[in-house]
Amino acid sequence: MRSLLIYLSQAEWAKKLVMGFPLARRVALRFVAGETLEDAVAAVRGINETGMLATLDVLGEHSHTEAGTRQSAQRIIDAVEAIATQKLRASISLKLTQIGLMLDPNVCAQNLRNILEAASKKKIFVRIDMEDSQSLPLTLDIIDQMRTDGFENIGAVIQSYLYRSEEDVRVLLQKDITIRLVKGAYKEPPEIAFPQKSDVDASFDKLTQMMLDVSLKNAKSLEQVPDLWPPIAAVGSHDEVRIQKAVDYAQSIGLENRWLEFQMLYGIRRDLQDRLSQQGYPVRVYVPFGEDWYPYFMRRLAERPANLWFFASNLMRRN
Ligand code: FDA
Repeated sequence: MRSLLIYLSQAEWAKKLVMGFPLARRVALRFVAGETLEDAVAAVRGINETGMLATLDVLGEHSHTEAGTRQSAQRIIDAVEAIATQKLRASISLKLTQIGLMLDPNVCAQNLRNILEAASKKKIFVRIDMEDSQSLPLTLDIIDQMRTDGFENIGAVIQSYLYRSEEDVRVLLQKDITIRLVKGAYKEPPEIAFPQKSDVDASFDKLTQMMLDVSLKNAKSLEQVPDLWPPIAAVGSHDEVRIQKAVDYAQSIGLENRWLEFQMLYGIRRDLQDRLSQQGYPVRVYVPFGEDWYPYFMRRLAERPANLWFFASNLMRRN
């Protein structure tokens, strides 16, 4: 089922079919803050009022023309401006395929540079989401290039399901590039990714520990990091066991709660978000918005079959 849904998330015919259902949009809004920037700003304001942080994701993947990539970059810059003018406590998350990675890496790099320049003027952090393994090497290269060019407000995402991730984490930590650790949401073959969930989980725990060790070493210098930037280790998961293991390890090495950030997706496990926030951990909610919600929505269905029944029962109830 997971493989089928991930396949459908990339199929144009399925996109047309699902987006043609008016009710599909309504159900997708469980995971998406809305279709406009105003919707997203209102959602982030609500999150900030509860003491939590946010990261804004202007939905969109795989722009097919250079003009399309520039429009996508401009929409992200508009979100940067909105964060600054509305005084939101939020960062940006983006996908490089949205701004041209698979079209022309040079166009992508230029679009990203424009976004980073706008964001660094406002002291806003930009996290580069990780997509499928095909785009991974180029994604890491471009992040590295931007750091070399002097942009400090950029961070990466690492997926614990890939065998190579331990080495990638080591390299990124050495370069002082902050990481959001996630399990991984794409379909990858067993030649490059752990097929068993238990191995993905074990890898997640190990990589979390590697990140927390470095956070502890750097805790003093983190005092200098602007308020809107995330601390070194960001654990992106709703898995209570993974979260508890991160909490236990941080306590065992004496890392203060404020240097361990948890990140969760909009609309998923609000209760857990609140609980961690009340315990003094920074909690950042990933807030996607925009009209291009289809692939994001399908990956959320793929992660949890129960979501599919929620979707199907809503469609049946209304038809
Ligand atoms: P797991 O899938 O084991 O779920 C644990 C529990 O969480 C479930 O039992 C359920 O209660 C709840 N849950 C999880 N997913 C749910 C869903 N869709 N609907 C309802 N409940 C759900 N991936 C990637 O490849 N690249 C990226 O850049 C990112 N970025 C990213 C940012 C943030 C902030 C998060 C939280 C996640 C991502 N991901 C991602 C997605 C990630 O790889 C992974 O697919 C999901 O987080 C689901 O994995 P969990 O760690 O939550 O565990």
